[in-house]
Amino acid sequence: MSQGRFITFEGGEGAGKSTQLKRLAARLEAQGRAVVATREPGGSSGAESIRELVLKGSADRWSPVTETLLMYAARRDHVERVIRPALAKGAWVVCDRFADSTRAYQGAAGGTDPALIAALETHILEATRPDLTLIFDLPVEVGLERAHRRAGAEMRFESKGQAFHERLREGFLAIARAEPGRCAIIDAIGSLEAVEARVWAAVRERLAVDG
Ligand SMILES: Nc1ncnc2c1ncn2[C@@H]1O[C@H](COP(=O)(O)OP(=O)(O)O)[C@@H](O)[C@H]1O
Ligand SMILES: [Mg+2]
Repeated sequence: MSQGRFITFEGGEGAGKSTQLKRLAARLEAQGRAVVATREPGGSSGAESIRELVLKGSADRWSPVTETLLMYAARRDHVERVIRPALAKGAWVVCDRFADSTRAYQGAAGGTDPALIAALETHILEATRPDLTLIFDLPVEVGLERAHRRAGAEMRFESKGQAFHERLREGFLAIARAEPGRCAIIDAIGSLEAVEARVWAAVRERLAVDG
């Protein structure tokens, strides 16, 4: 059986990643593909337990380096137990956040040494890398406004200040500039349908999907 494809959704809070991931998963399924929709931090039983630790509580509960290690502990479990087995069976894996979120949140915005993050990518991800990464971009205040309307218990990162979120946005855009072959920037402003059409156009173009 052919190897599946791995698509990651990245960007700041309230950008519409989770909303659009469901829509993309439904479209791919409607074409008869096996789809595994998953998320980070989390996506496997052990990693979901770590999610609780990193997304709840006060903004300064963890230092950026500790957070990086927690994220990578969760990611390794998720990769081993969910992502790799799904790809090996030929499924299309669509993942709500992945390694670029660590580069942007703990790295660009949080100040963790990029060399540590790069080493973790090498040793923890190994060859498991996204075929396509959609980077949802929108002004920080619009995203935070949307995120606050949705508000729940997982507010640790939303509660960091405006400057953090500006560094985060710039961090994601820098990743897209550095790896244009893997990354597509999705303008996240507009109706759900307009953003969905941009996502679909990127998937068709980059991964040679019909429809
Ligand atoms: N294009 C859009 N325009 C307006 N509101 C949106 C749009 N996309 C998503 N939303 C709303 O914004 C909030 C955050 O969307 P969500 O998909 O949870 O973002 P993310 O997963 O990127 O944090 C939700 O309430 C969602 O319904
Ligand atoms: Mg989300």
